[in-house]
Amino acid sequence: MSQRMTLISSPFFVPEAQLRKIGSFAALFGNDNPLALEIGCGIGDFIVQIAARHPERNFIAIDIFNRGCQQTCSRIETSGLQNIRMMRIEARYLMHHYLGKDSLEAVYINCPDPWPKKRQRKRRLVNANFADLLLYCLKDGGELNFSTDFVDYGENVGELLSNDTRFENLLSEPYSHELGDYPVSKYMRRFLDLGQPIYLCRYRKKSGLEIPPPTVDKGFRVRWPRDDA
Ligand SMILES: C[S@@+](CC[C@H](N)C(=O)[O-])C[C@H]1O[C@@H](n2cnc3c(N)ncnc32)[C@H](O)[C@@H]1O
Repeated sequence: MSQRMTLISSPFFVPEAQLRKIGSFAALFGNDNPLALEIGCGIGDFIVQIAARHPERNFIAIDIFNRGCQQTCSRIETSGLQNIRMMRIEARYLMHHYLGKDSLEAVYINCPDPWPKKRQRKRRLVNANFADLLLYCLKDGGELNFSTDFVDYGENVGELLSNDTRFENLLSEPYSHELGDYPVSKYMRRFLDLGQPIYLCRYRKKSGLEIPPPTVDKGFRVRWPRDDA
């Protein structure tokens, strides 16, 4: 990944070293409210909407794109919300090193990079391997919310999750074009304005499952700083 790394000085921005030093998200937020994660938050417009609706939850917004992290921090500051922190970190790396078993009440993934070419599809974040990691990190009853504008990605994720008996579908179909009260992100808005449907998947982890620690697929383009696992 080559991008200019400018220093982000927002009080809501958490460098990995700070999290490692402080030891836990509960210590970081100063309370042990349930934790929710948005992966690939872009400019942060979704996270401020969802966090405002759920003051009882703590939210971590992550992205690997520096400018997006800066814009998200500005949005958090403007919103006045105290239940969000922003990290510049790769999703699987964070989940593997800092979240772990039964740590999350909800995960949001909106318009993830679609990798449209057939030969690139193995680069997509959400696949069977990621579902295992997600189930490991979600609490009993924890939710996965996934949206995409990309037909083939929406159909694949809908099929993957609706056939996985460890998940309960919160909608009546594998995916839906009806968004209901689901907040709209920048990319979702862009495609809706072009008249293109959004594929929304909402699933919940069933209770009482014993999920073994998954083997982690590290993705392909982001170097893991602690390559010890
Ligand atoms: C197409 S944008 C969508 C942004 C936003 N979610 C929206 O809907 O407006 C995808 C975002 O995911 C981020 N991203 C891609 N892979 C990621 C990963 N493995 N971990 C964290 N962020 C990732 C990208 O940097 C980019 O900002």
